Amino acid sequence: MRIDIITCVPKLLEGPFSHSILKRAQDNGLAEIVVHDLRKYAINKHGQIDDYAYGYGAGMVLMVEPVEKCITELQAERDYDEIIYMTPDGERFEQRIANQLSMGENLMILCGHYKGVDDRIRQKFITKEISIGDYVLSGGELGAAVIADAVLRLLPGVLNDETSALSDSFQDDLLAPPVFTRPAEYDGMNVPEVLLSGHEAKIAEWRFEQSLQRTKERRPDLYQKFMDAHPEIPAKKG
Ligand code: ADE
Repeated sequence: MRIDIITCVPKLLEGPFSHSILKRAQDNGLAEIVVHDLRKYAINKHGQIDDYAYGYGAGMVLMVEPVEKCITELQAERDYDEIIYMTPDGERFEQRIANQLSMGENLMILCGHYKGVDDRIRQKFITKEISIGDYVLSGGELGAAVIADAVLRLLPGVLNDETSALSDSFQDDLLAPPVFTRPAEYDGMNVPEVLLSGHEAKIAEWRFEQSLQRTKERRPDLYQKFMDAHPEIPAKKG
């Protein structure tokens, strides 16, 4: 999968993709992340990419011309499954959306900055608007990194153990159960006996019950959704 990210602060995106799993995914040719500096598409030699908002007191808006130029240049090279705009008034990002996006080949992500981008860009080019939560960031870059991470780790081969993305929290609307490693006893606290038993079916049952219990305690909204979708599971399990 290829992800093109358009930003006026490319430095903000230097870190997240240069380490660990996402770096390995790129080194192995499973993912390509290309960051485009909007300033290279500025309308004049002063590097102008923004201007005052019509009808607002203060605040700058990313101009149509540089953004259009960048998007259309990229579109001339390949077809995009989605052209995403990061904005606090977009659809709230969740695992379901990461799963959908991971089915694509090419994604483009436009990061808003200042007061955002001229609305006509949204109307003409953007196919999906995403918010990473109900708070306002100073730009879309950190959100774009969140999306790229959540999507790329789902691609086959990106994680070492292919099954591990499937057992993540949220993959089936449940939170993940607790995990333990050595030592088996720490500060008087023991790893649950069943996990040491080697009995796979019992371990799977224990993990499922822990998942249910955690979800019920921490995310009653998700728990209800899960139980509604699985009437065969007795409520006492959670
Ligand atoms: N840009 C500013 N705030 C944002 C948010 N919450 N999600 C996505 N992009 C943003």
